[in-house]
Amino acid sequence: MIKVDFNRPTTVGNEFEYMKQAIANAQISGDGAFTKRCHAFLESELGVKKALLTTSCTHALEMSAILLGIQPGDEVIIPDFTFVSTVNAFVLRGARPVFVDIHPDTLNLDETKLEAAITPRTKAIVPVHYAGVGCEMDSILEIARQHNIAVVEDNAHGLFGKYKGRYLGTFGSMATQSFHETKNFSCGEGGALLINDPALAERAEIVREKGTNRSRFFRGQVDKYTWVDIGSSYLPSDILAAFLYAQFEQRERIQSHRKNVWNMYQAALSGWAEKNGVRLAYIPEDREQAYHMFYMLLPNLDLRQKLIMYLRERGIYSVFHYLPLHLSDMGKGFGYSVGDCPVTERISDQLIRLPFHNELTSANQEQVIDAITKFQFS
Ligand SMILES: Cc1ncc(COP(=O)(O)O)c(C=O)c1O
Repeated sequence: MIKVDFNRPTTVGNEFEYMKQAIANAQISGDGAFTKRCHAFLESELGVKKALLTTSCTHALEMSAILLGIQPGDEVIIPDFTFVSTVNAFVLRGARPVFVDIHPDTLNLDETKLEAAITPRTKAIVPVHYAGVGCEMDSILEIARQHNIAVVEDNAHGLFGKYKGRYLGTFGSMATQSFHETKNFSCGEGGALLINDPALAERAEIVREKGTNRSRFFRGQVDKYTWVDIGSSYLPSDILAAFLYAQFEQRERIQSHRKNVWNMYQAALSGWAEKNGVRLAYIPEDREQAYHMFYMLLPNLDLRQKLIMYLRERGIYSVFHYLPLHLSDMGKGFGYSVGDCPVTERISDQLIRLPFHNELTSANQEQVIDAITKFQFS
């Protein structure tokens, strides 16, 4: 029995060579030559005003909360179906999370429920482009504009995905990326803050550099650097940036491989899914997905759990996520209870993610598909 991993860290090009170069450059702390190359790559490919590498997407989200001046008592609107960091970054600043349910089709924040969630205390809306499929950005931005609320896109899954022809991450005043080992482009742990509102750019450098104006000092704009604001250490080592840049260089190869993986699962499983009441991802016509994951929605929790166990017995590793945030200990502490976000409660029981990584072979996929299509539903 050949094991099929859910995820596997991979090297795709010059990772080791560039890491050696970073050491030879004699700067392996943050903001060395490779960090600058990563910034330039993200800025030019996506067309964002400024990109700053961070130690994680979690930290990019934390930076966004600081940059928006989130204070105790403020409210931040977040989809209930997301990773804990989307909410925690704002709660750390004292915000109260306002969970909005998701669309049952894309599993993205349901923008039709936004107006009802807004109060005079709402400071930010944080849409998550789930599975790298864009949220309904026209409506979200229009509602945010009418109420003068900032939008921060959590684009952890969505690098190079598009909404109506425009890259995800270019819509909000800020957006956050993840380069965690499970993502399309990775350096183990890493992230980026993308800044579209130029008014936030200079302060972002300061917050990322421990609240100092060290970036201005390195550019020769001030003759010494000092403590000017709150902040923390959010910049990654240039060794990690070197690893990441090597992956960026292979953008076309990585994305076309992932597209093939996704298309093969889709082609092989769509008839089976229809016959067995299983739903596959829905990608609206005006969106290009980022090919981050392949998920399926089983009819219920019992069947989802059985399928995960059945696959594991055959050496195939699949996973589920996310537990509804409003029903976590923290969510309940904010006064939420069962029934507040019914779509998330249901989807969370049904979702399974299939093995998906940059070295997944078609033989691996055939093994997965063969096992799934032989799964007994009764
Ligand atoms: C939607 C979402 N946001 C944020 C994160 C946090 O990313 P990181 O691990 O880079 O901090 C994740 C992690 O997978 C995520 O799925």
